[in-house]
Amino acid sequence: MKLLCFERDNITQQCSPTQKGHVYSASFEFYPFHEGATYAIYKGVLSGEGPRDGQFCVVRTMLDRQAAEDDWTPLLRRADEARRLAAEFNKHLGYNAVVFEEPVLTQIEAVSDFTRLFRVFKPHDKRLKLKEFVALERYLEGEFRKPNILSQQAAACTGSHYNSNSNEDDVYSGMAAGDHPEMTRTEERDIIQAFSHFSWLETKQSLVVCGLQGVFDEEFRTFRFCNPVIHSKDKRFGESDGATAGIQEFLAKHRCNNHCNAFKSRRELRRDHNIFSPETNDKLMPSISRFLELANNT
Ligand SMILES: Nc1ncnc2c1ncn2[C@@H]1O[C@H](COP(=O)(O)OP(=O)(O)OP(=O)(O)O)[C@@H](O)[C@H]1O
Ligand SMILES: [Mg+2]
Ligand SMILES: [Zn+2]
Repeated sequence: MKLLCFERDNITQQCSPTQKGHVYSASFEFYPFHEGATYAIYKGVLSGEGPRDGQFCVVRTMLDRQAAEDDWTPLLRRADEARRLAAEFNKHLGYNAVVFEEPVLTQIEAVSDFTRLFRVFKPHDKRLKLKEFVALERYLEGEFRKPNILSQQAAACTGSHYNSNSNEDDVYSGMAAGDHPEMTRTEERDIIQAFSHFSWLETKQSLVVCGLQGVFDEEFRTFRFCNPVIHSKDKRFGESDGATAGIQEFLAKHRCNNHCNAFKSRRELRRDHNIFSPETNDKLMPSISRFLELANNT
């Protein structure tokens, strides 16, 4: 929208339809609230025909380029794979323990003339360009937890449960033990760890979903994650995909917990009823060293 002769808003075109067929555009802030290694991320509001109309979203832009549509393929692929695996994992648990946000693509429709002014007060690197491709995602409200966020403090926290079980891809690794009741945190961390392990088994040892970041919805006991890391044997999930080395690192640090054991024994039950092929059966419950062996045999 023009104000006098100035373009007032940052806005996107209508996005490609979500899996439920809804289409939105977004109007978003003059400066990104986060610039990280890969993305400049803006807060915005959706408008369109669908239940998310009027809700906050993030507009994820590529920091180092004016992205073309293809530049987003790895992010979309990661989200699809993680969502598919989460749906299976949730079936095992019987409730929505883990949910991944669905990013949808669109292009920049208008860049506000006020962004230049805001660059003075809020210096940032990203320069938006008309027609560049961006991804829209739900804005995750609440305490955003990142993998490995406080690992430095964890190192100092000798003897803590978190430290002894630490995993760099664990959202809670290094969380100071006094921050929250330990049982709750341990339980939450176990679900995340079990999900990563599950992704490994469910994909017949071809990938691990980790680097899980997002928020925890206390009411529904649901993790809402975005932008996961996936390490895959054939390195098909973009730059953050650490391939076999990434898989090995996860497996070396992973410690199974009750949730892992529960889905492993359920799989074994199914195996006994010959649902899995004989080839898969051999690999169902490998030890960590067997995991490493399998990851090496690529
Ligand atoms: N959907 C979301 N809702 C709310 N905040 C978000 C969302 N996605 C990302 N963020 C915020 O942006 C930050 C960076 O996101 P992300 O890791 O996807 O980008 P990045 O470029 O890899 O950044 P970094 O290098 O800091 O990890 C997150 O830590 C979080 O604070
Ligand atoms: Mg990141
Ligand atoms: Zn496990």
